[in-house]
Formats: sequence, C-alpha cells, structure tokens
Amino acid sequence: MAGFPAFRPGCADARCDNSPVPDSTARSSVLRRSFRKNFPAAVRGEGVYLWDADGNRYLDLAGSAAVNFIGHGVPEISATMAEQAAQLEFVHTSQFTTPVAEAYAEELLAFAGENFRGGAVYFTCGGSESIETALKLARQYQVEIGQPSRYQIISRHQSYHGSTLGALSVSGNKRRREMYLPMVKEFAHVGMPYCYRCAFDCTDGCRNCGQQYAAELERAIEAINGEAAAFIFEPVSGATLGAVVPPPGYLQSVAEICRRHGVLLIADEVMTGMGRTGRNFAVEHWSVSPDILVTAKGLSSGYAPLGAVIASKKIVDAIAAGSGSFLHGFTYNAHPISLAAGRAVLRYLQQKNLVAAADSTRPGTPSAQFKQALESLRNQNAIGDVIGDVRGIGLLWAVEFVADKISKRPLPPEKNFSARVAASAMQRGLLVYPMQGSVNGISGDHLLLAPPAIITADQIIWAIDQLRAATLEATKSL
Ligand SMILES: Cc1ncc(COP(=O)(O)O)c(C=O)c1O
Repeated sequence: MAGFPAFRPGCADARCDNSPVPDSTARSSVLRRSFRKNFPAAVRGEGVYLWDADGNRYLDLAGSAAVNFIGHGVPEISATMAEQAAQLEFVHTSQFTTPVAEAYAEELLAFAGENFRGGAVYFTCGGSESIETALKLARQYQVEIGQPSRYQIISRHQSYHGSTLGALSVSGNKRRREMYLPMVKEFAHVGMPYCYRCAFDCTDGCRNCGQQYAAELERAIEAINGEAAAFIFEPVSGATLGAVVPPPGYLQSVAEICRRHGVLLIADEVMTGMGRTGRNFAVEHWSVSPDILVTAKGLSSGYAPLGAVIASKKIVDAIAAGSGSFLHGFTYNAHPISLAAGRAVLRYLQQKNLVAAADSTRPGTPSAQFKQALESLRNQNAIGDVIGDVRGIGLLWAVEFVADKISKRPLPPEKNFSARVAASAMQRGLLVYPMQGSVNGISGDHLLLAPPAIITADQIIWAIDQLRAATLEATKSL
C-alpha cells in the first residue's frame, strides 16, 4: 500500500515479539498476545509476589506493567469489592448515579488538589477508554465555548496514550501504530526531551534545551492556525521511552504556551498517577496545572478495570452552561464494583503513606533504596558495559542497554536484548517489563521497572542481584 510503512513484527514489547515459535506452544482458546511464547498460568498474588500453577514464585518488579502499587492480594480490597457486589453490582449511568461513585469522585478531586476544586470525574474501565474520553471532552469544550474550528490534538513523538484508534492517533509509539496508520487520524507530533539522546546534543542535562522543545510545540500550534484543541503529554514518559523525566522548565513553558493559545492541557497520568512518582500526580513535581488529567493503572492497582478522567471546573462549567450533556458514554463507565475497588485502594494507600514511600528523594524510603540499587548497576563489572542509562523518578525507572557506552550506539534490534533479559529474569523468579524502540521507534532496548510501594530493602537487594545475573546471561547472546 502506498505510503504505508512495512510492518515489522520484531519487538521486545510484551505486545509483539519475534522470538521463534516454541514447539511446545499449545494453541489456546484465548487469543493471547503472542503465539510465540508460553504463558505460565498465574494463580495467586500476595505482597510483591505472584505464583503460577506450577508453584513458581515471581517477584513483581514491574508492578505487572506499572499497575500494582499497593501490593497483590490485599484482603481489604477484595472484601470491599465483594460487599459492593452483594449490595449492588451494576446500574446504567443513564438511569442512576451511585453512592460509591459520588463519594469516590469527591475523594479523587481532593486527592488531585486545588487545581481540580469544583471539577468532576468521569470513570471508565482503563487507560485507553479514559484517553478517548479526554480527547472528546477537549473537543466538546472548544465547541461549547464557541471555538468549533478547534479539533486537532497535538502530541509527542515516542509517546504512548493507548491502543484504541483515537488513543493510537495521538500516540507516537511507532511499532504499536504502524499497522493501523491507514485507520487513524493523524495530527501533529512534536519532539520530546529525552536527555540521554538529546536532539540538540546538549551537555547540560537539557537544562536549556527544554525551551527549544517547548518552542517546537508553539510552532506546531501556530502552523495549524486556530485548529488546535489540546496538547496531550505524559509528565514522565512511560511505555515507549521508559521513565524519561522532563528537563527543568520544560513543562512549565508548555503549560504557558497552551494557555496563551487557548489550547487545553491534557496530562496523561495513566502510568504516573496515584503516587507512582512520589507525588499524588506527577505534574505536581513541576507545579503544572492541567485542564484535564487522565489516570488508570494504579487507580485500582489492578484489582478491577478502572480509569478516570478528572476535569477541571472550567471544562465542567462550559458543558453545564452550554449543551448541558457530555455526548459520550460506555455501558460500563462508573461500574460500582470497580469504583469500590478504586475507593478502597485510595483509602489503603493513604493509610499506609504509600505516596511518601514512592518518593525517591526521601532518604530511607523503598524508592530511594531502589534508585540507589539500580544506579549501582551502571558501574558493575561484566554488565556495566551494556548499561547506557538508568533513569526515572519515584517508583518508575528504566534501564537502557547499549552496544557502546561512549557513542550510545544501540544494540541490534534483532538481538531482542531486553526481551532476553526479561526471559532470563523470569526464569530466576523476577518480573520486569522489556521494551524496544527508544532510539527511533525500532532500535533501543530498555526495561521498565515499577515495583509496588510495599517492596522491602531485602527484596530490592534480591531483585537487583537477579537482574544483574539475567543481564549477564543475555550478554552471552551478543
Ligand atoms: C501513559 C499511558 N496512557 C495510556 C495507556 C493505555 O492504558 P490501557 O492499557 O489501560 O488502555 C497506557 C498503558 O500503558 C499508558 O502507559
């Protein structure tokens, strides 16, 4: 097809892989993510651990995929869900609200802080549904305030906002988009500051070039001549680049540019929200106030499918005073059992001070210990040579592997290095999240690490030992 890039099935990402089809792989009635891999059957979880049906234990250093924040198998959460199911399992949001939805929305607005006072929360079943909701909310807001020409959503290269077609259209993850490009609406994508591989070749940790990336956004807004409805960004990049923290001043400038041009600011905190970075929401690190904040994953910590779109007062007021209804809906939005799970998770993480535990700048916290242990990998004999970068914040970290530390040359993508490390780690009872594509969407191997905030110092030491051994084993394939 003309203009359609060839789809490359190779990928370390859990969503696609090109490892050989094992002879022993049995066909399943479940359409799984891969036909090339055997998946153990998980049967139990407790604390940082998961167990499979053969009795093997795994330490969940990835929080599955940056989902679990409070630990697995917390009895209070399942008990609250069971109570809700026994009382009222479901009503449709076109007919009823529920006490759990009203109470939880108020609590979440308070958790999101002053910027969202007087706002409102739209509940969904996960990240992608929440992103779709946020994009439509932004468009409807612009129409309601008399700006119907604004419909374009600007996003960033090397971002990830979800797998539904609307969310894919604003994502920059090349591998996950490629095959579906003919089906998605394309809007402008701008560069993302990725200091380890800065496009401006700076030597000061992007202290100054954050402004150049922000200026690129302003040029993109001006180029589409009054059609920009919103700009969407991950405050700390997640599934594509792996835990890239923005340089000082960049997000503040982005926010200011958006305000000046009447463009809404949508913070995608699907991965970074609910304490993962050591703040309730990651935007707080940079004192940025988005118009719309999207969160999922840690919101229910995986106990139920749940996402939330937190809209500021200005958005809600515009719709209330305008057409009076948000033209959007899913059968299962605000599902009472998911909300009961999310509400119990919020209560639990507040009672246990887990946001503080995830603050890697606080000495003695699990996240500070994790940061220190990971950073020690850089200079280890035997594996230090392939560890190009260790980056992150709070309990969201990435290790990027390279073929050469000086030139930062990536490993050949066909070696599937990060997937090999992950497979070897899994054999040792350690779960990590492997990815490829950080350099140019195809090459660039890294691991995403996002353990539950209840991880202990001993568990961290054990996990880093296994990670070291798994990396060493994978280097034998190079
Ligand atoms: C930043 C971000 N946005 C959106 C999504 C999509 O969320 P979900 O997989 O729950 O649909 C993800 C998933 O990894 C994500 O990391």
